[in-house]
Amino acid sequence: MANVAVIGTQWGDEGKGKVVDLYAEGADVITRFQGGNNAGHTLVVKGKQTILHLIPSGILHKNKICIIGNGVVVDPQILLEEIDGLKAKKLFPPSTRLYVSEGCHVIMPYHRQIDMAREAKKGDKKIGTTGRGIGPAYEDKMARTGIRVVDLFSPETFREKLEAVMDEKNFYLSHYFGEKPMDVEVIFHEYMGYAQRLKPYVTDTVSILNREARMGRKILFEGAQGCHLDIDHGTYPFVTSSNTVVGAALCGAGVGPSIIHEVVGVCKAYTTRVGGGPFVTELTCDIGNYLQQAGREFGATTGRKRRCGWLDMVQVRRSIMVSGITALAITKLDILTGLEKIKICVAYRTDEGEEFNDYVPLDGKKLSQCRPIYEELEGWQEEIKEARTMEDLPRNARRYIEMIETLSGVPVILVSVGAGRNETIIVRNPF
Ligand code: GDP
Ligand code: IMO
Ligand code: MG
Repeated sequence: MANVAVIGTQWGDEGKGKVVDLYAEGADVITRFQGGNNAGHTLVVKGKQTILHLIPSGILHKNKICIIGNGVVVDPQILLEEIDGLKAKKLFPPSTRLYVSEGCHVIMPYHRQIDMAREAKKGDKKIGTTGRGIGPAYEDKMARTGIRVVDLFSPETFREKLEAVMDEKNFYLSHYFGEKPMDVEVIFHEYMGYAQRLKPYVTDTVSILNREARMGRKILFEGAQGCHLDIDHGTYPFVTSSNTVVGAALCGAGVGPSIIHEVVGVCKAYTTRVGGGPFVTELTCDIGNYLQQAGREFGATTGRKRRCGWLDMVQVRRSIMVSGITALAITKLDILTGLEKIKICVAYRTDEGEEFNDYVPLDGKKLSQCRPIYEELEGWQEEIKEARTMEDLPRNARRYIEMIETLSGVPVILVSVGAGRNETIIVRNPF
């Protein structure tokens, strides 16, 4: 018996969706625990692509319980659209149940408005957020002025809270940003409509999760974003507004630490970042363009081009440390096919000669002085999309994986060689 958490080790978009969809086969319950619809998790099954923003990536499987845990911020409009979209395509099996925690904080129209107005005002100093209102929603949660899913079912409480918070938001929007104030009545009625439609899904998910765990059912925790977008451990302020490390699974789903037996860190065979912020191994040359094109590195949520660079093992080691990662899943190895040489960053060195191998300086100035120290490996030219065992891989591809294992000290238990569910080498299944 094992319960597994799948989390990102880089700046998101590592291929968590694919890995979770694959592992969901062996799980009974799949739960998100943080983030919101800033996430874009792509699943490719029998050549058909599905992008999920809020619904856990286990949804395509029959007889599962999918949970949106209390740590997630929920935009009800997006969630309802996602449910409708899946049902219309017959991708939401009737035997699979979806539950939304009544404790989730709700993304309101003023959160999206503030997110976008702030970014516009910052100009070239912007974070490059997804514009989905994620930061402002988490701010209200911490300021204790947030609206939770449960509040939507008490119209009087909801109206009271909405009036109080909108008084402040409208002052901020109009006086600070020069934007038009928003109408309380319009928002009240819009959200009352969402509440009716969401009602069948809303419940105390903490009880469900703990009951299922007690009964020995297998639980899969699906992380969003990646360790270096974490509000505490990431490249602050170029981060998201939640904790993305495995610790967030405990409070964001409402379970104790002994429940998680395996932490799988998903790691792309190279590095990408969408949005602003430091990126030590970024390649602004032809190879960077090649990775961007070959890897179709466009954001699954915003469609923005992702910045690309070599694999950064300083970053990955830090993620392993912070989340107690017990195994790695390496994705998009196929994208490196055809490169003559492949580099892997083993340490950072500053202009003053300081070296780091599992610490990404929190001091932005120091980080900007960090230069990557690379080891260079021979590439391979053979197509690898058909590989299903490690022995099927060309020798140099195997060496690359072995190098990652040596540098990380953690076994690689999955290698993804294509976007499709079956385009995978499973060395060991955690379930
Ligand atoms: P997530 O946010 O971590 O779930 O990752 P995204 O879905 O945002 O981005 C990963 C992208 O890479 C998606 O388009 C996936 O379909 C695709 N992908 C995942 N694994 C592989 C792989 O091994 N090879 C290739 N070529 N594409 C992959
Ligand atoms: P998945 O789950 C990649 C990035 C944004 C921006 C920063 C803050 O698909 O891996 P936010 O809207 O969260 O306030 O934006 O975080 N970001 C992601 N980058 N993948 C994600 O999710 C991301 N979610 C947020 O681009 O730089
Ligand atoms: Mg993504």
